[in-house]
Amino acid sequence: MTSNDLVRRIESLREQIRYHNYRYYVLDEPVISDAEYDALMRELRELEAAHPELITPDSPTQRVGAPPSEQFAKVQHVVPMLSLANAFDEAGMRAWYDRTMRLLGSDAQVAFVVEPKIDGVAVTLIYRDGVLVRGATRGDGETGEDVTANLRTIPSIPLRLGPFADGTGDAPSQNAIPPLLEVRGEVYMRIADFMRLNEQLAAAGEKIAANPRNAAAGSLRQKDPSVTARRPLRFFAYGVGQVEGAELQTQWETLHYLRALGFPVNRDARRFERFEEALAYCREWMTRRDELEYEVDGVVVKIDSFAQQAELGVVGRDPRWAIAFKFPAREAVSRLIDIVVNVGRTGVITPNAVIEPVNIGGVTVRNASLHNADYIAERDIRIGDYVIVKRAGDVIPYIVGPVVARRDGSERVWRMPETCPACGTPLERAEGEVAYRCPNFGICPAQITRRIEHFVSRSAMDIAGIGEKQVQLFVERGWVKDVADLYLLTPEHFQGIEGYGPKRVANLLNAIAESKDRPLHRLIVGLGIRYVGEVVAQILADHFGSLDALAAASADEIDDLEGIGPVIAASVADYFARPESKALIAKLKRVGVRTEAKGPAVAPKGDALAGKTFVITGTLPSMSREEASALIVAHGGKVSSSVSKKTDYLVVGSDPGGTKLAKAQELGVPMLDEAGLMALIGADERNTLAASGKGRDRTPATSRGTMAEPEQLGLSLE
Ligand code: IVH
Repeated sequence: MTSNDLVRRIESLREQIRYHNYRYYVLDEPVISDAEYDALMRELRELEAAHPELITPDSPTQRVGAPPSEQFAKVQHVVPMLSLANAFDEAGMRAWYDRTMRLLGSDAQVAFVVEPKIDGVAVTLIYRDGVLVRGATRGDGETGEDVTANLRTIPSIPLRLGPFADGTGDAPSQNAIPPLLEVRGEVYMRIADFMRLNEQLAAAGEKIAANPRNAAAGSLRQKDPSVTARRPLRFFAYGVGQVEGAELQTQWETLHYLRALGFPVNRDARRFERFEEALAYCREWMTRRDELEYEVDGVVVKIDSFAQQAELGVVGRDPRWAIAFKFPAREAVSRLIDIVVNVGRTGVITPNAVIEPVNIGGVTVRNASLHNADYIAERDIRIGDYVIVKRAGDVIPYIVGPVVARRDGSERVWRMPETCPACGTPLERAEGEVAYRCPNFGICPAQITRRIEHFVSRSAMDIAGIGEKQVQLFVERGWVKDVADLYLLTPEHFQGIEGYGPKRVANLLNAIAESKDRPLHRLIVGLGIRYVGEVVAQILADHFGSLDALAAASADEIDDLEGIGPVIAASVADYFARPESKALIAKLKRVGVRTEAKGPAVAPKGDALAGKTFVITGTLPSMSREEASALIVAHGGKVSSSVSKKTDYLVVGSDPGGTKLAKAQELGVPMLDEAGLMALIGADERNTLAASGKGRDRTPATSRGTMAEPEQLGLSLE
């Protein structure tokens, strides 16, 4: 390569990576696989390593650059970072609206922008000539802290601006970059990422965070940017501070503008021309807040026009042109009656709070998580304390901490029991680990019970008629010591047991026998490997095709799969390396459980669906879901159990599952009915030569007529 070619290649790689970041983080519509993205990054890294003189600070490889800092420098905000006045009910909202109209004149044309109020950390980002030069926290609104090195590590924050005018895949042009732009927004953590992070922190013996906001704040204030880089932080842009080179007139236009420059903008932002509609949208989110992947503490209503904003002005820190409609706090105070310990599938002992029943946001809460013994000790949570209980998203409620002022001296300090409550074995705590474990893996009845409950559950082998009660019976009687023993149950076992008449026993044993033939991914879920849920299991089953092949794979091989990271890969490899796992797999085979994928034993029929991933929901008119899956696989497609950005089509039957449908609508995944699916395949059978359009693009075959018109619920910025 000549040095000119080299410079051009490096530039092109950077541009492509920026563009794919935009597709992924802003549009939520990637057009290449993670592996392809990784390949671009790898090539860029290699070229830069060979030619370090060509590295620029805005290169996508330079997210983690700075060494750990001692202290964060203070930053004076040129445009102050305001806060928001709150309204706690509709009356408060109406009072705000009335005042606004009084100030603007009752015949003023007013439009509103409503945005979710993300519970994270407010930051400001300064771009000069399109390059991120500084990022700071809000601080007191006048002076914040310079956390540039840490903000640079957040993948959804662009190091260099777009513009990205369209979604056609063309490389972005380089015009229209503002000489100066200050972007305001929120750094946050998704609830699921927060939970996973806490699990990892706990396993590493580190302190866990109380909620996603604290986790985001703590991650952003790390002295070492490489630590921040490992935290799953994200960013939403919602406004501008200083700007040169653009004449922005409205909030709505600003959101468009930010998005076109490459910033993630909340897809649930909406513009309304009538206050009542804006209010209805606020109300809607109050009931739908659990659907969001991140925590919100309300919605923000802003006057759209900047001219009107200027007219309304600011009182103290709070602009009159915006208001936060706060949702009821999902926190309550209750009495901690007791702490009980639960023995998990892997022997981990978790303390749980039994509290006086309390209503939190319409749900009666009786039990709450206490995470682990360190969590209790660090917060000095005592039995008898009044405690703050919090419920967030779909997460199990947890105890935030004690209300120390309400103690009367009768509270008792709790200690972790020394032995397993189920089998009496002394508990162990590995060096550097937070968790206490019962080491009696093979014999402890509580562990066996949990493992079997998991195995028969709906997401795993889905064995009808077996629940906690039945599992308890099987384990107590000593009939079942591992999941394979289920298949050795006979009618004789149940003789003389009350409630188990011949008919019921026959049904039960039938259901068990039937499950021998479940798809491989369900069996993999059923094994209860740490971090392996339905999605990961599907990837493993698709790739390896049998339990034996999976068991023989190295952690590296597993890590190479798209959608699987090193932590999961290590966990899977560890599981299969254990002698008891090997014994269990052998036993499952002996009792007749199928450990291979059903897939087409015959050669694939075609590849019309090659590279396409399908999800099926509901009941199809003329075939079972298993049959539909087999058909898709036979034509080169993949079937996944849940809708994600990687889903190409959702096949919809009658009574479809709400989550899959909603998710598909949200992501704009095209939907097909059975006839639509057959048309895709039929076209292949009629014209096998034409089946060349592989690749990962998601262009739907619209002109076929049987494609259901998907409601494009993407970001509704027009
Ligand atoms: S606007 C008017 N928009 O809420 C200028 N703030 O209580 C104030 N926040 O410090 C910011 N989502 O951290 C605005 N869509 C949103 C927001 C939002 C979250 C936070 C932000 C701010 C705080 C004000």
